[in-house]
Amino acid sequence: MGVIGCGAISGAYLGMASNFPVVEVAAVADVVMENAHRKAKEFNIPRVMTVDELLADPSIELVLNLTVPKAHLPIAMRSLEAGKHTYAEKPLGIDFAEGQRVVEFGRQKGLLVGCAPDTFMGAGIQTARQLIDEKIIGEPVAATAFMCGKGHEHWHANPEFYYEVGGGPMFDMGPYYLTALLNLFGPVKRLMGMARISRAERTILHKDAQGKPMHKYGKVIPVQTPDHVTGTLEFANGCICTIIQSFAMAHSQLGGTQPIEIYGTKGTMRVPDPNGFEGVISVRGWDETEWRDMPLTFVKGYGRSVGAADMAVAIRTGRNFRANGQQALAVLELMQGFLDSSRTSRAIVPSVHYERPAAMNPNLPFGQLD
Ligand SMILES: NC(=O)c1ccc[n+]([C@@H]2O[C@H](COP(=O)([O-])OP(=O)(O)OC[C@H]3O[C@@H](n4cnc5c(N)ncnc54)[C@H](O)[C@@H]3O)[C@@H](O)[C@H]2O)c1
Repeated sequence: MGVIGCGAISGAYLGMASNFPVVEVAAVADVVMENAHRKAKEFNIPRVMTVDELLADPSIELVLNLTVPKAHLPIAMRSLEAGKHTYAEKPLGIDFAEGQRVVEFGRQKGLLVGCAPDTFMGAGIQTARQLIDEKIIGEPVAATAFMCGKGHEHWHANPEFYYEVGGGPMFDMGPYYLTALLNLFGPVKRLMGMARISRAERTILHKDAQGKPMHKYGKVIPVQTPDHVTGTLEFANGCICTIIQSFAMAHSQLGGTQPIEIYGTKGTMRVPDPNGFEGVISVRGWDETEWRDMPLTFVKGYGRSVGAADMAVAIRTGRNFRANGQQALAVLELMQGFLDSSRTSRAIVPSVHYERPAAMNPNLPFGQLD
């Protein structure tokens, strides 16, 4: 595996990838070479390359694309052109058309396309999915999914991309929530959305751990995509979910550590943060007075890169894999759908065929995925 893009999130991948015998991180690259050198040193990666060198290296079979959203499509297309399988951070593209191009090109080339998030493969969402399937709360009839915050300009060194097209709370955080919901409920029948830009500009307020303003502190960023997105999803199973993804809601009481709530005919389930791999699942029967925390029944300890490792097993064995491009394309169509619905005042009926990927195998030892 070769990694392109060595910024804020790359450490999470590089730290976890060594747990999977099926992958070996052979090289890192970045348009800013200094970033690649820093990560190579920190994680003992044997080679630092330019993007061109990495794409030309025949020993690299899988490109892990951890660049910013607007570079996801160009790097994916170049990787596929170079005969390499490709797995990208989310979103798959900055709009639905980009996602379609990548998935279609992968198909033409006979190469695999994968995409984050892989958090749904963690014990938290996997256990929640099993409990829903076992009807612990009966038939799910309604759900809420809330990510309500102030935005990332307070802590991220280079937060510009969060306010460009392909960013915003829906394209940034929506993938975690929507991927989890698809895994819990299956495909979406239709959706409606309302979205707005709540403020025209944002100011970067990034400080170091000692509270010292960093190099971009005070820089003003134009907001080019809605920073407050709300919507309603009707799933094919009948469940109606209300979603809010917002960078415009300071001090909100919504969200918290169990930001998805599912209301069933027999009770209610609180689902842990889909931006994490574990967390606490709580269930309360319709007439029960107390919440019960449920044990997580899947393998614990996974982190970012389990999706790419699962894809590497698929490359070797020909089996399906979970964080696949088709699922990411279904998610991208929903995200774009909220913005389109808001603009046109119409409901959107998704066109992408979606099937839930296989559940994780709870009986395998940590790190083993086949
Ligand atoms: N920061 C997080 O907490 C976080 C969490 C989960 C997912 N993500 C996702 O990961 C991706 C990267 O986010 P980040 O926070 O690490 O961003 P970042 O800006 O910190 O890092 C991106 C890196 O990619 C490099 N890069 C950009 N364009 C490139 C190109 N064309 N070719 C080669 N290198 C290029 C940059 O120089 C930089 O080193 C985004 O899609 C983001 O949504 C970020």
